[in-house]
Amino acid sequence: MTDSSEVNEFTQISDVIRRRHSVRVPFDPGHQPAEDELQSILEAARWAPTAHNMQNFEIIVVDDQATLAAIGRVRGGTSEAFVRENYAQLSFSEEELIRKGTGLIATMFPPSWRTPDGKSEEATDVEHGFLDETMRSCPVVLIVVYDTRERAPASEGDFLGIMSLGCVMQSMWLTAEALGIGMQIMSVFSAQHVEEELREILSIPDYIDIAFACRLGYPAVEPGRYLRVRREIQHFTHRNTFAAHGDD
Ligand SMILES: Cc1cc2nc3c(=O)[nH]c(=O)nc-3n(C[C@H](O)[C@H](O)[C@H](O)COP(=O)(O)O)c2cc1C
Repeated sequence: MTDSSEVNEFTQISDVIRRRHSVRVPFDPGHQPAEDELQSILEAARWAPTAHNMQNFEIIVVDDQATLAAIGRVRGGTSEAFVRENYAQLSFSEEELIRKGTGLIATMFPPSWRTPDGKSEEATDVEHGFLDETMRSCPVVLIVVYDTRERAPASEGDFLGIMSLGCVMQSMWLTAEALGIGMQIMSVFSAQHVEEELREILSIPDYIDIAFACRLGYPAVEPGRYLRVRREIQHFTHRNTFAAHGDD
């Protein structure tokens, strides 16, 4: 890397990669991303790498108030399996989270999700709530869908197709971050009971499934401090053989 413009470009992209984060606070409903910014995020999806260049996605842009409200009335909720498996990877102190280097801190979740059996004396909020609570006043939601009749060539379970949808997600997310727009993935949109209701509201045919949805906007409140951890490079790299770690 000799050219100063290359160094500059590298610095910028690595900065955006480090800055990108999940924005889980409510958005300002009156502050919608500008149309050209939205187009930039869609352009990023357009140029995302996909297996066999199959471009196996369609994106439903929802910014109509009545449609957003109709989606908000869908009951989200969560499965017992989710609560159980989520609980298994929670950390109950910052020290524990830093030591593990993966996962999330328990306080990010509603009280019942912080117990092994998913039960709590405290008031239920998101856990049995409607999507409105998940969307939290967002002015625009992008719903990324794919055609289940197609798949990447010879890809068992369309593994390569699903990976491609992840590339679409990342391209959109980095672009949103670079534009200063907050983004949160909402996996609940692809839960079966939610997807069924969204099919009705958004006229999604039965051969099209929801990959993921994301809410976009500008935070209405100052996001609280949120500890984000990652493993050290040497903890996940293996030089030349899986038997050797990066620091061997
Ligand atoms: C496939 C996928 C699904 C995710 N689903 C959710 C979700 O439903 N709700 C949410 O708040 N974050 C969701 N996330 C965000 C992750 O929790 C988040 O990226 C991770 O904890 C790291 O935090 P960061 O995004 O702030 O770096 C999802 C991320 C990915 C890649």
